[in-house]
Amino acid sequence: MSRLLHISASPRGAESISLAIARTFTDEYLATHPGSSADHFDLWDGTLPEFGPAAAHAKMTVFGGGTPAGEQAESWEAAVRTFERFDAYDRYLFSVPMWNSGVPYKLKQFIDVVSQPAMVFDVHPETGYRGLVTGKRAAVVYTSAVWGPGLGPEFGGRLPVHVPGGVAEVGGGRRRAGDPAPSDADGVVRERAQAGGRARQGDRQDVLAARGR
Ligand SMILES: Cc1cc2nc3c(=O)[nH]c(=O)nc-3n(C[C@H](O)[C@H](O)[C@H](O)COP(=O)(O)O)c2cc1C
Repeated sequence: MSRLLHISASPRGAESISLAIARTFTDEYLATHPGSSADHFDLWDGTLPEFGPAAAHAKMTVFGGGTPAGEQAESWEAAVRTFERFDAYDRYLFSVPMWNSGVPYKLKQFIDVVSQPAMVFDVHPETGYRGLVTGKRAAVVYTSAVWGPGLGPEFGGRLPVHVPGGVAEVGGGRRRAGDPAPSDADGVVRERAQAGGRARQGDRQDVLAARGR
């Protein structure tokens, strides 16, 4: 019995292509994994805390072996609660539109909020970083409108891999860079169909992508 969390980074609601593909994936996942459940964390719904001055100070206090106090403690608690909300699941689906050759800033904010020492990672002076959230799997839906495979840098950059990289860091899972599909309308339809197929396959594919306007 798995628990799937869909974390979405598009604020475009009913117009969103990445949300539509992710919905197809989720529906098919639930239909083909009896006993599983799915929840949605919309990164734009106002529940994601800021990670500003107090939180940044708190993080460094914790790194230094101390305990945050006052305003720092409040910000730290909010980050811990968000990490716990994330960690309560064992399957993740990220839906991520390309924004200015990167990812929407809300997704980076999410990564900054949950990526905390002794929760997501620890670091050793000789062996480096180690992921602490293990035994989990993630899939990523990417969408873009201009850039695509085979196009040069004049059409924008390749999607950065720090989204699945972050997932790999937290989960120790596989990752592949996002390769957006051809930009015609059929490409979106194909990807929605594939989203169902890949959800049925369970965890063998990690990255879905489509381009749309
Ligand atoms: C703020 C913003 C920035 C964007 N930047 C890019 C970009 O750099 N490259 C690109 O190919 N598409 C870009 N797009 C287009 C979106 O990636 C594309 O429309 C995608 O399908 C949107 O996903 P959604 O429908 O799930 O919101 C941008 C869209 C927005 C709103």
